[in-house]
This record gives sequence, C-alpha cells and structure tokens, in this order.
Amino acid sequence: MKSILEAPFLVEMIRTTTNMYNHGWDERNGGNISLLLEPEEVAEYLDIRHVIRTIPTGFTAPELEGRYFLVTGTGKYFKNVEVAPDVNLGIVRLVDSGRQAELLWGYSDGGQFTSEFPAHMMSHVARLAVDPANHVVMHCHPANLLAMTYIHDLDERAFTRTLWQMCTECIVVFPEGVNVLPWMLCGTNEIGEATAEKMKTARLVVWAQHGIYGAGKDLDETFGLIETAEKAAEIYLKIAHLPLVNTISDEAMHLLEKRFGIKAREGYLD
Ligand code: 13P
Ligand code: ZN
Repeated sequence: MKSILEAPFLVEMIRTTTNMYNHGWDERNGGNISLLLEPEEVAEYLDIRHVIRTIPTGFTAPELEGRYFLVTGTGKYFKNVEVAPDVNLGIVRLVDSGRQAELLWGYSDGGQFTSEFPAHMMSHVARLAVDPANHVVMHCHPANLLAMTYIHDLDERAFTRTLWQMCTECIVVFPEGVNVLPWMLCGTNEIGEATAEKMKTARLVVWAQHGIYGAGKDLDETFGLIETAEKAAEIYLKIAHLPLVNTISDEAMHLLEKRFGIKAREGYLD
C-alpha cells in the first residue's frame, strides 16, 4: 500500500494549512479545514476496514453516512501540520447517521477533530445539496474581514456591496455575495446549524468578531474565495476613514456580469 504521506489530498492539505498560517489567518490553533474524500482515494493508502477508535460527534447528519473526511485536529496549530501531519490531522468516516466518526488515520496523540466539526459537517450537507462537487469547508480568522465586522453594518447586502466595490474582480469571484452571522458562541451545534443555513445561498459566511467560513470544490478554490474577500476588506480598512471620491458603480458591475457571464445575487445591484 502506498504511503499516505504521498497522497495528493494530504500534500495539498499540508500546503494549504502552511499557506494559511503564513498569511496570518490562523494564529495559534485558529482555523480548521475539512476535505471530503472519496472512498477509493482513501483505500489506496489505508485499510479502510481498520478503525483505530470511534469518536461521538454530538449531532446527526444522515446525508453524510459513510462519507470520509480529512479534518484538522482541535487545538492544533496550522504551522505544525507540515512537521507532524499524523498528529494534527485525521481521516474519519461518519457512521450511525453521522452520530459517530470512525478514526482511520491521524490524531495520533489521542486528539480529535476540530471543535467546529458541527459547522463543517452541517455546511458540507448544505453545500453538497447545492453543488455535489463541493469538497471543502474552511474556517479561519483573517484580520481585515474580522476588523470590518466591528465598523461596518452587518446587513448582508450592505456588507457584500462594500466588498464588491473594493476590487473589480470581487463580484466575479463571489457573485452570490457573502452571508453574515452575528456573534454567536463558537464550537456549538447552534452555530453549526446557523452557518449551514447561510451556506445554502453563499459559499462565504462571515462570523462577526470571529472569522469566516468558505466552501468550494477544492482547497485552491476555497482558499482563493477567502483570499479575495480578505483583500477587499483590507482595501476597505485602508480607505474607510477617508473621503470617498470614486467607486465601482452598479453600472460597471452590470458590465462585469456580462463580460464574465456571472449573475450577481438577486436584488444586490441597483
Ligand atoms: P479548533 O482548534 O477546535 O479547530 O478551534 C479553532 C477555531 O478557530 C474555533 O473557532
Ligand atoms: Zn475560529
């Protein structure tokens, strides 16, 4: 059997966590990622009949019965994933209608998946219903987006329009906009359910005064979504205290829709 350390999904996960740490999005143990894996790709590297231990999830998700995920560990630092992937990551299979996770690899110090597992799994259910190709849910704490939630109206249309106006290509990258949750207690099923509800209509969900969730078909796409929104928030913070002389008009946004064949969220443009 091939070494799991050579599995493309593991290599890509390590590259992504390292890159996110280097972007300053994941201080200490901040942030978490879950990547949906196909049974055949896991079986190339692991004996999928061998369960190391079973971990209760605290929720049900029958839609994910039998599905495999590579997930960052709770309390683990993204900066350490590259030096000790088997300690900081784990591969689990959901069973018993999602109530239990069978550990097939990783969390080798006795650890377990992220405390945000409910938000991740419930978001996977929501995104898979919209797009069966969705494989990634990613959470992190990018400073500019976070800062923006202290000074900007949290109304989703207003928040989205500001981000779109900060860089020409924002509307192209996330035409559905960003959804926003008010501050809520993290690590709970309640914030998981609220996040999943927001994920039905957008791949980006801001958690006010906390961070952001992104979803996408692969790690690159999801990283790129967050990267683009975070860049827009950075520009907003550079100019928010200055008189605004120019902006990207709604007329210009409509030209972008035509040029790139995208459709802005209904009612978000005048
Ligand atoms: P975990 O260490 O449990 O993944 O938590 C980090 C985090 O960002 C919580 O929102
Ligand atoms: Zn967090």
